[in-house]
Amino acid sequence: MEFSDFGKRFAGEIGIGELMDDLGDALVSDPAPLMLGGGNPAHVAEVQTLFRSRMEDILSSAGEFERVIGNYDTPQGAKAFVGALADLFRAEFGWKIGPENIALTNGSQNAFFSLFNLFAGKFDGGQLKQVLLPLAPEYIGYSEVGLEPDFFRANRPEIELLDDRLFKYRVDFERLKMDNSIGAVCFSRPTNPTGNVVTDEEVSRLRQLANSQGVPLIIDNAYGTPFPNIIFSEAHPVWDENIVLCLSLSKFGLPTLRTGIVIAKEETIRVVSRMTSVLSLAPGSLGPALALDLVKSGEITRVSNDVVKPFYQQKSARAVAQLRREIRDEIPMRIHKPEGALFLWLWFEGLPISSLELYQRLKKKGVLVVSGHYFFPGMEQDDWAHKEQCIRVTYAQDDQVVEKGITIIAEEIREIFSSAKSS
Ligand SMILES: Cc1ncc(COP(=O)(O)O)c(C=O)c1O
Repeated sequence: MEFSDFGKRFAGEIGIGELMDDLGDALVSDPAPLMLGGGNPAHVAEVQTLFRSRMEDILSSAGEFERVIGNYDTPQGAKAFVGALADLFRAEFGWKIGPENIALTNGSQNAFFSLFNLFAGKFDGGQLKQVLLPLAPEYIGYSEVGLEPDFFRANRPEIELLDDRLFKYRVDFERLKMDNSIGAVCFSRPTNPTGNVVTDEEVSRLRQLANSQGVPLIIDNAYGTPFPNIIFSEAHPVWDENIVLCLSLSKFGLPTLRTGIVIAKEETIRVVSRMTSVLSLAPGSLGPALALDLVKSGEITRVSNDVVKPFYQQKSARAVAQLRREIRDEIPMRIHKPEGALFLWLWFEGLPISSLELYQRLKKKGVLVVSGHYFFPGMEQDDWAHKEQCIRVTYAQDDQVVEKGITIIAEEIREIFSSAKSS
């Protein structure tokens, strides 16, 4: 059997595939590895109680359950939910949006497939356009989404060294080349894998840059405001007709219900909805049904602020404190300033082995992390040593799991650096 070029891309090794496989295997293997690798959000008890009670309402109200599971929504997604989202965004941020500016997708991952291939790839006259990722490292899930080869362009960031073994990536505007071979600019905020929050000033420069070329600025807000609001620094959300804002119910607590939200100008929403109709007929209905009341009442914002954000912020601080304690000064470890999302991004300058080997060694010891080298889409040709010196560690799991995992990571790192020193 021979696969097409398109098929071969999925048959080979794909970072996101490997990551999701590890995640699935971890949940069923015995003993279960310490899962510091995936992007699965935590089971936040208060949020789960809210959804349980909403599910009970659906089940006990005559005909509602049957309607939710038995009727396709339109390709744009559940009308009542889309309307409630438009009201929420108008009320929260004063944006001039209506239901015509919102489409639901089966997870925001799905939205990126549609959006990236809408704005980049082959154009009239055979011209090829790329998606510019202004700040690498960037989300692993973008890597294989483009239907054309060489789909992304990314640059090395500036590295700002901070006190207390922290550092922060900043957009290097000097290196950022914008021309008519760019079809869209995209970044995640907060960023997966680093927990970075691109500053308001950087956002405004990126807006100008995208506008100067007449291309959309896609902002991946999977962890951002107003929900799930896993964001620990000051950052203001922005939207206008040149911005495509992507949100998700996953990190608020519904990852399995695959509910992505795209906010964009009407023309874009129409095409995204059409693409959904071709790829999957309609978005799933259960996520919108479970979240409808929370969005209508604005409760989703309150729960995000008062429950979800402090839950992760406390876990992040705990993991950082432990790393500082256990990885002693002589080891060149730095942590990206944790400003949001579910991850710590650790940089071991001069790491004597590759980050992939480090991942494999840790896996043998029963801890799953993600090798940093996957997170540089668009920089495949750049042999920057930094790409091989980082790992992503998720702190969303139970505190004991994270604690044990970090202890093993620290032991392994000490061992690697001390045997390199003595050899
Ligand atoms: C930055 C970022 N964007 C998008 C997604 C996709 O999320 P979903 O498809 O569950 O909405 C993820 C998932 O981890 C993510 O980390």
